[in-house]
Amino acid sequence: MCGIVGYIGSQQAAGIILDGLARLEYRGYDSAGMAICDGEKIRISKSVGRLKVLEELTHNGETMPGCCGIGHTRWATHGEPNTTNAHPHYNTDETIAIVHNGIIENYLALKEMLTKKGYQFQTDTDTEVVAQLLDYYYDGDPMMAITRMLHRVQGSYALGILFAQHPDRLFAVRKNSPLIVGKSPNGYLIASDVPAILKYTRNVFYVDNQEIAVLKQDQLNFYNIDGDEIEKEEVTIEWDANAAEKGGYEHFMLKEMYEQPKTVTDTLLPRIKDGDIVIDELNMTDDELAAVKKIHIVACGSAYHAGVTGKYVIEGMARVPVEVDLASEFRYRNPILEEGAMVVVISQSGETADTLAALRESKERGFKVLAVVNVVGSSIAREADSVLYTWAGPEIAVATTKAYSAQLIAMYLLAMKLAKVRGKIDDVELSAMIEDLKCIPSQIEMLLGNEKRIQRFANRYVGAKDIFFIGRGIDYSIALEGSLKLKEISYVHSEAYAAGELKHGTISLIEEGTLVTAIATQPELYPKTVSNIVQVKARGAFVLAVTTEGNDDIEKNADYVIYIPQTNPYFMNSLAIIPLQMFGYYVSVGKGFDADHPRNLAKSVTVE
Ligand code: M6R
Repeated sequence: MCGIVGYIGSQQAAGIILDGLARLEYRGYDSAGMAICDGEKIRISKSVGRLKVLEELTHNGETMPGCCGIGHTRWATHGEPNTTNAHPHYNTDETIAIVHNGIIENYLALKEMLTKKGYQFQTDTDTEVVAQLLDYYYDGDPMMAITRMLHRVQGSYALGILFAQHPDRLFAVRKNSPLIVGKSPNGYLIASDVPAILKYTRNVFYVDNQEIAVLKQDQLNFYNIDGDEIEKEEVTIEWDANAAEKGGYEHFMLKEMYEQPKTVTDTLLPRIKDGDIVIDELNMTDDELAAVKKIHIVACGSAYHAGVTGKYVIEGMARVPVEVDLASEFRYRNPILEEGAMVVVISQSGETADTLAALRESKERGFKVLAVVNVVGSSIAREADSVLYTWAGPEIAVATTKAYSAQLIAMYLLAMKLAKVRGKIDDVELSAMIEDLKCIPSQIEMLLGNEKRIQRFANRYVGAKDIFFIGRGIDYSIALEGSLKLKEISYVHSEAYAAGELKHGTISLIEEGTLVTAIATQPELYPKTVSNIVQVKARGAFVLAVTTEGNDDIEKNADYVIYIPQTNPYFMNSLAIIPLQMFGYYVSVGKGFDADHPRNLAKSVTVE
């Protein structure tokens, strides 16, 4: 999704902004631009395509002198991706410039109103309307113009704003789109996401909805929508700046796959104390937890897949009914939430618009929401009643790997805690599970060691048109994630099916040589999945099986086998996903794609 960076201070702004935008490239974009105020005028440069085009255009920012500026990477929503529609946008006399993330929902009505007053528009964007609206309200007092504008616009926005008549100030405001302010020794910064400014500072302020930040070279003030000054708490970002660097890996995705042992450890160990699962963050007593009658898990994409795994594990272990919803469906389906239900939302970014809306919907209905979130201080983390953080650190690649692995751990912890307080497992069973979980990081490490073998296999399939993933139970939830990993970065059509469902239609798609990846890690379901392997083999499929060590007999039916170590069947997903992530990654690399920046995709989806 779009990215915003802004700077005001003692240094030249353009270089800092370009650097920050480069760190937001992972969010996905189709054009980029920046506006720099040189003390008198605001100059704008913009270009279509990668950021390096803007860097070349501005000679790495050298042709745009000035110590105050805003920059943007745009992911087109209103109007095609071209230079005109790229941000920043001016008002008519080029004295106001803005960058914007989000969508102004009433922009057509505002445009009509402004057109009647003689304003003309150069772009197809909703954003230009905000620049002109600010112009309309501006009478020399930028704060007045901004507060009046805020009362008129509807929708979601994070805005960086410059006024040529006030070259010593940078304004920022947001509603339902993330925005932070950073305090560095050489000035202040704004950004839509932490990695953009980590190089300069770890001291940040989270701007809340409809708050206005006014940044000067050596002063920072915050105001509410009425223009009254407010106090904000300074927060230290714990993320290590190196965590947002590639560190010698070809792609962030590869690096993040290799970080999974650490991610799992960091998410797991703080919640294991004296042989028990302790999740203080739940803010619930054991009795309250035991009384939970139903759990609704709501999420999008891979986070949803972690939720599907959560359903199998929680229902199986704790015998609590779980419903899993795609957030985009949940928010509009008028879900039935009954007394005693608990809502769990899962999100890496903590900014996914649909998940945030589902959270709000649940809270409005009076239900407490637990958020499983990776980004500290994100909107979902701040609005949820309690937060179970996945300590994966910054995840840069669009295709999630380590955050997903951490989400799985969060699901297991929740399941084990529920099972324990409901008396469904005893201390001995719990201890055995904890021991199994503690082995997961080294087992992942071992599986990562298969990289070359999986790369060779993936190279055989770079030309594949369709690839199917099948599995039963928990293996089905792995199939869903394996299939998404492949398709989102390699653009190979791929589907995941519950293996037993094949014969109800999908099997007609199997042709000679079609690759079917069969996941068979669940002992009770193993013979059934093998039967499904036999069925697709009979139709000409080439079968890649992912199964546990000891299931050597599968070689009679599968063409290629990846063995994963033994663990508690509930935790298999954490191991089986590793070769599937690698497979997706290497098909993408084999096809010459940039695995970190898949086409049409954004890291955090802050619009519907
Ligand atoms: O930030 P979130 O976890 O809320 O994001 C949800 C999905 O957009 C995300 O998991 C997406 O499916 C990933 N690209 C998958 O790799």
